[in-house]
Amino acid sequence: MGYAIAVDGPAGAGKSTIARLVAGKMGLTYIDTGAMYRGIGIFTSDAGIDPDDEEAVSAAVAGVQMDIRYPDGAQHVFVNGKDVTDRLREEKTGNLASRVSRYPAVRSRLVQLQRQMAENGSVIMDGRDIGTVVLPDAQLKIYLTASAETRAERRCKELLEKGEPADIAEIQADIEKRDYQDMHRDVSPLRQADDAVLIDTSNMTIEQVVERIEGLALIRRKNPKVILAKTAGFCFGVQRAVKTVYDETKGSGPLYTYGEIIHNESVVNDLRRHGVTVLDSLDDVRKAEKGTVVIRSHGVSKDVYDTLEEEGFRIVDATCPFVLKIHQIAKEVTSGDGELVIVGDRTHPEVQGICGWCRKPAAVIDTAEEAKSLIFPENAKVTVVSQTTFNLQKFEEIVEIIRAKGYNTIVCNTICSATEERQTEARRIAATVDAMIVIGGKKSSNTRKLYEICKRECPETYLIQTFADLNLIPLAKADSIGITAGASTPNTIIEEVLHNV
Ligand code: F3S
Repeated sequence: MGYAIAVDGPAGAGKSTIARLVAGKMGLTYIDTGAMYRGIGIFTSDAGIDPDDEEAVSAAVAGVQMDIRYPDGAQHVFVNGKDVTDRLREEKTGNLASRVSRYPAVRSRLVQLQRQMAENGSVIMDGRDIGTVVLPDAQLKIYLTASAETRAERRCKELLEKGEPADIAEIQADIEKRDYQDMHRDVSPLRQADDAVLIDTSNMTIEQVVERIEGLALIRRKNPKVILAKTAGFCFGVQRAVKTVYDETKGSGPLYTYGEIIHNESVVNDLRRHGVTVLDSLDDVRKAEKGTVVIRSHGVSKDVYDTLEEEGFRIVDATCPFVLKIHQIAKEVTSGDGELVIVGDRTHPEVQGICGWCRKPAAVIDTAEEAKSLIFPENAKVTVVSQTTFNLQKFEEIVEIIRAKGYNTIVCNTICSATEERQTEARRIAATVDAMIVIGGKKSSNTRKLYEICKRECPETYLIQTFADLNLIPLAKADSIGITAGASTPNTIIEEVLHNV
């Protein structure tokens, strides 16, 4: 068998347009299975067989030969050596095709012919059961879909452009009915093959879809060595916080999280579907109906707890124990005559939460320059803590600068070991591969830091939120690819990237 790409999906998802374009770009033969059914319609008509006589049609198709060629760049369909291309689009042919395609013998002869074509060359074939029945061993299987609304809009636009009347509600209802029938028919129902890549084209241009399939095909052909970081994905604190919210959804009454539980859109959206509302500020708290509020792993400042209690909310605290430890240090140091330096991003909720436990202002810094300009009274007792996800090398650099100032310095390295291990492993992998993928939310600080670390070691580093963001064409040049993910990236997303890469 040559190289084969199977494209399945519901009607109106753009399968044939896309398959044709991919064939042109990649030098594959596009096998138009719809045209083959039409060819059988022409064959029975030319042979004088009644298309409603199943027995006669079945006996005749057993020996029929068919071929699809592109001698002048355009598709030509040959039935028993005769070019029938000009008759394929006739209405009479369409009618004959739909009558004969009901017969199992027609289907099975066409499947045989389609498999022969795939054996004799490199092909892309579209239909409803190509990946599941016709070419179960295809090197790449795509399940192309789009929402019923999008497909109805596209169809409506096509009809209007042709000057034909179009009722979008009617078109959408027809599409939904057809989807249902295709998915519930007895013989070869429409379904996504287990190993197919789902591409939802609802918000994609034709060019983007073609590029995606081409990229996937190039990567499959290249078959790069892929190294997945063992530390990729949810850390202990995030896992615990997410589980806490899902457990609470089983209870009754309004359920909230104070801020998004993790920096990951798919998890936050899923929780929203489970009835969880995000409270973004103390103003939101004051306006919300009383219920349960889960505090996320980043933790919050003391005034948030106080307000929630005053307003009569039940608090479920999922603050990571490592962050609670920093709150404790912040409270103790700033209750005495010591000075506190927090090394971290002052805009990050974890750092803001830590500041909210200080009895007097702490210095928040995150660069060597800021460390150099720190001034405390001579012989001051200075305690340094860090945001749990801070870059270790950068922290050590900053600590050296503070120590050199001659204060009585106590360093509490509160960088979480999960972060440290993740960063060390990411750096090690990035140094050995041609391309590196870092998966995580746009707002996730630990993901951004992983990206910075990997980019320094490996210039071809890509930061993505989900597989859909990945630009596959440049990635397909790599012989080896590393994958890591931030602490708030769910396993399902990591697995999707791993499977497709
Ligand atoms: Fe906690 Fe470390 Fe995760 S501080 S939330 S286990 S990154």
